[in-house]
Amino acid sequence: MIDSILWTTEIATGIIWQDYQHKELLEVINTLREKVSTEGNDDSSTKELLDFLIFYTGDHFGIEEGYMDLLKYPEAEHHKGQHKEFLKNIEALKNLSSFSVEIKTDALFKDLARWFYKHISKTDQRFGVFLQANGIR
Ligand SMILES: [Fe+2]
Ligand SMILES: [Fe+2]
Repeated sequence: MIDSILWTTEIATGIIWQDYQHKELLEVINTLREKVSTEGNDDSSTKELLDFLIFYTGDHFGIEEGYMDLLKYPEAEHHKGQHKEFLKNIEALKNLSSFSVEIKTDALFKDLARWFYKHISKTDQRFGVFLQANGIR
């Protein structure tokens, strides 16, 4: 099984609520991957966790996008596009039963966690600089 991708200060944006939520989201992704690998995705607690991940991610993206609209962030369109793509991909996890082979499950989560890490370390950090410049913490 792949190693968990954990939050580190390297991907901090310096925005308190954003860093807190990124940490939580990465933790949920890691926990979910472990559960799917060991128990499959038919387990009811796995389904609940997946629903929670989708809800929490949507909520998190919504908060970021709210600030983008409020502050007229110039890179909003590009950033929102990345959010949309990620949400589409985690929604796809709901159909994971067709991915019965553990390796496929693992690869899928690896992609998700890596994508999310990259999004935080590039796109969100850039946005964090903008937020700080606008007095948001
Ligand atoms: Fe984010
Ligand atoms: Fe973002």
